[in-house]
Amino acid sequence: QPALNELQQEIRELARDRKAIILAHNYQPPEIQDVADLVGDSLELSLKAAQTEAEVIVFCGVRFMAETAAIVSPDKLVVFPRVEAGCEMADMITVEDVEALKAKYPGAPVVTYVNSYVEIKAVSDICCTSANAVNVVKALPEKEVIFIPDKNLARYTQRFLKDKKIHYFEGYCPFHDVLTVEEVKAARKAHPEALFIAHPECRPEVIDLADAVRSTSGMLRYVRESKAKEFIIGTEVGLLYPLKKQNPDKEFYPASEKMLCEAMKIISLEDLKKSLETLSPTVKVPEDIRIKAYRAVTRMLEIPR
Ligand code: 13P
Ligand code: SF4
Repeated sequence: QPALNELQQEIRELARDRKAIILAHNYQPPEIQDVADLVGDSLELSLKAAQTEAEVIVFCGVRFMAETAAIVSPDKLVVFPRVEAGCEMADMITVEDVEALKAKYPGAPVVTYVNSYVEIKAVSDICCTSANAVNVVKALPEKEVIFIPDKNLARYTQRFLKDKKIHYFEGYCPFHDVLTVEEVKAARKAHPEALFIAHPECRPEVIDLADAVRSTSGMLRYVRESKAKEFIIGTEVGLLYPLKKQNPDKEFYPASEKMLCEAMKIISLEDLKKSLETLSPTVKVPEDIRIKAYRAVTRMLEIPR
């Protein structure tokens, strides 16, 4: 762990005074990751938000992640330093879209990738993350399911569940779907010894080329346990920082420089400090919507990993 600078030390002191826990996603800027109590993927962060004893959760990530913390911990103050940090995939789907799918496939449960806003989770049966999507869909008794909003994660999940039919919404992450077969082939040519690891938000034809497909924390675990020394990383470039930090003797190459999610880079240390001083802005979800979304999220958290 690198030594904390003055501003980071002030943030740690403020967090102690405020009885706050700082949660950060694996794509957050390095200086934010270094000052956080926990850095993780969506599933790890949701579990921590549900279990922490802290009175305040300060969330460094994008809005749907902070909302999930507010959904599972209604008695805590969830501080989200920059409310404008959204998710382009989450923006693609509306409640009307979900209702239309339900009308088209009556009786099929709605499985919602957590990369969606609370209103969407509220009209869903169960949530999933990139780390547990296969287990979640497998655990459902129904043979037909509706999967929203990510078509790529839906099609990835379908590969493992041949006896099910997954009807999916045509959403996607622009910063994962952008990766092409040509780019992966060029990266492999430039780094012939490297393994290629992809996030399930990548296109099917890119997934076909991968040595492993994992959530962000799944990639961190995979690399730690691998004997290989070089890796081509098929996810948002922010993951390169924790990869290198945990594996200084290994080499990492982004599969494409285009895989950069601006929303994940908005929160600065100054924003974080100010948020801890003022305990604002906070994420609040209307209680009737929260209760419905809570059912879908907790149902997911109960599924074994
Ligand atoms: P993970 O849950 O794998 O960290 O992914 C979150 C995300 O936003 C991917 O784009
Ligand atoms: Fe959303 Fe994609 Fe950014 Fe993840 S990387 S937060 S899915 S826009």
